[in-house]
Amino acid sequence: MWSYPKIVAHRGGGSLAPENTLAAMQCGLDYGFHAVEFDVMLSKDGVPVLMHDPDFGRTVAGSGSVATTLANELFQMDAGSWFDPRFAQVRIPSYEAIFLFCQANQIWMNVEIKPAPGFEKETGSVVASLTQKLLLAGGAAAKPPLFSSFSFDALMSAKLAAPEIARGYLLDDYEPDWLDSLRKLEAVALHTNQKKLTLAWAKEIKTAGYGLFCYTVNSPERGREIMSWGVDGFCTDRIDLIGADFVECI
Ligand code: G3P
Ligand code: MG
Repeated sequence: MWSYPKIVAHRGGGSLAPENTLAAMQCGLDYGFHAVEFDVMLSKDGVPVLMHDPDFGRTVAGSGSVATTLANELFQMDAGSWFDPRFAQVRIPSYEAIFLFCQANQIWMNVEIKPAPGFEKETGSVVASLTQKLLLAGGAAAKPPLFSSFSFDALMSAKLAAPEIARGYLLDDYEPDWLDSLRKLEAVALHTNQKKLTLAWAKEIKTAGYGLFCYTVNSPERGREIMSWGVDGFCTDRIDLIGADFVECI
C-alpha cells in the first residue's frame, strides 16, 4: 500500500532549478512541495552524492565520471551553470547534506539509488547504511525515506543493510516477472514510467496489494487519468503547473 505523498517534485525542483542540488530542494520548497525525489550515486571514495548521470557533461561542466572522482573534488564542481548563469555557485551536494536539509524542513524523500555501472551492490549497501545512521542520529522526529532503484541488486543490498527502510522497485516498462521481483525485494511499491503504464497493468499491481508510483507526469490531464487508474502518486518536473495540492484539486 502507498502511505506516502502523492505529488513529488522530481530531482528536487523539477524543471525549475538545476536538478539534484540544494537549490533544487529549496525551489521545490518555495513552490510548496514537501516531497522530493532525487538520485544518489557513489563517489570514487564511496561517499553518496546527488547525481543522475554517471558522467559529467550534461549537468556538470567538464569531462570525467562520478565513480572516478573523490567526493571532496565533486563538492567543488559546478552543478548549476548548465541550467542558468545565476546558479553558477551551485555545487554537487552530498546525500548527507540533502538528507539533513530535508529533515530540517519536513520534506519527505524518495531516494533513488542510482549506481554507476558495476557499483550496484555497494551503492545500495552504503546508501542504506548511511540512511540508517542518519535516522538514528535524528531521533524520534526523523522521517525515513522511501528507497527506489532500477537496479534489483542495489535494492537487494539496501534491504540487507537496512531492511526496515521501505523500497519501491523501478521498472521503465512492463516485465513479466515484476511481481516476483517485488516479492523478493519485499518492496512496498512498483515505480514505473507513466508512458508505458496501461490500465490493465495498473489493475494487476493494485490487485496484488502494492503501491503504484509513476514518473514523470508533466500534464494535469495525464495526472488525472492515471490516478483514475489507481496510481497512488507521481513525480513531476512541472511543479509550477501541478502543485503539491493537485490531488485535492481533482
Ligand atoms: O524515480 C523516478 C525517476 O526519477 C526515474 O527516472 O531517470 O529521472 O531518475 P530518472
Ligand atoms: Mg530519479
